[in-house]
Amino acid sequence: MSRTPIIAGNWKMFKTVSEAVAFFEAVKGKAEVAGVESVICAPFTNLPALVEAAKGTSIAIGAQNLHFEDNGAFTGEISGVMLKDLGVKYVLIGHSERRQYFAETDETVNKKVHAAFRHSLVPIVCIGENLEEREAGTTKDVCRVQTEAAFKGVSAEQAAQSVIAYEPVWAIGTGKSSTSADAQDVIGYVRSIIAELYDQATADAIRIQYGGSVKPNNVAEYMGQADIDGALVGGASLEPDSYIALVEGA
Ligand code: G3P
Repeated sequence: MSRTPIIAGNWKMFKTVSEAVAFFEAVKGKAEVAGVESVICAPFTNLPALVEAAKGTSIAIGAQNLHFEDNGAFTGEISGVMLKDLGVKYVLIGHSERRQYFAETDETVNKKVHAAFRHSLVPIVCIGENLEEREAGTTKDVCRVQTEAAFKGVSAEQAAQSVIAYEPVWAIGTGKSSTSADAQDVIGYVRSIIAELYDQATADAIRIQYGGSVKPNNVAEYMGQADIDGALVGGASLEPDSYIALVEGA
C-alpha cells in the first residue's frame, strides 16, 4: 500500500501576515517535491493571504483549530464553514497544546472531526502521551483511548482520508525526540487500532505522522520507518530553508 508522505508545518502562534507571505514566497517551488505533500498550518489571520499565495502551487494550507458548531454565539471562534469558504484544505484537531491550555477533550476532538468532514476539510488528529503517562508505561493505552474517541461515528471512508499525528507531549519543543524505533512502535500500534475499528484497507490508507522535535537532520530517519508517513513540525517549520529541507528530507 503506498501512502503519500505528508510534511505539515504547525506555525502555532507565530508570524504576521507579511511574515507569512514572505515565508511562502521563499518556499514556493522549493518545498514542492514530487511524491510528497507539503502543508502549512498557520494562524487564522494568515489563512486568506496564504490560500491566495498557494494558488497554482502544490502546497496545501491548513488551520490549527476549528469550532465544532457551524455557526452561533461563540465569541472568538472559527467554524468549518468559514475555513472551507477560505479554501483551506487541512485542519489540526486536538493538538496537545489545545488539550492542555484550552480544555480540549476527547469528546470535543470527536465533534471537531465530524465538523471537519461536514465541510470537506481533512482533519489532522493529534494524539500522544505526556511524560507522566510515558513513565507509567501507558503510552499505548493513552493513544488507544484518544484514537477510539476521535474516530467515534466516523465512517471508514472518512477515516481513510484522515491524518493522525502521533506527538508525544514530552517531545514537543523540547529537543527530546522519540527514537524512530519507538515512534514506529507506537504508530504501528495506532494503525492496528484503525484496523480493529474499521478494516485493514482503512488502516493501510490512513496516514500517520510523527511529531515532536522533528528537524531536517532527523526527518529521514522517521520517514524510513514502515508506518510513519510524515511529520508534523513546529519549530523547524518556521524558517524557509529548514521547511524546504524537511520536505526534501521526506
Ligand atoms: O505540532 C507540532 C509540534 O507540536 C511539534 O513541535 O517544535 O517539537 O517540532 P516541535
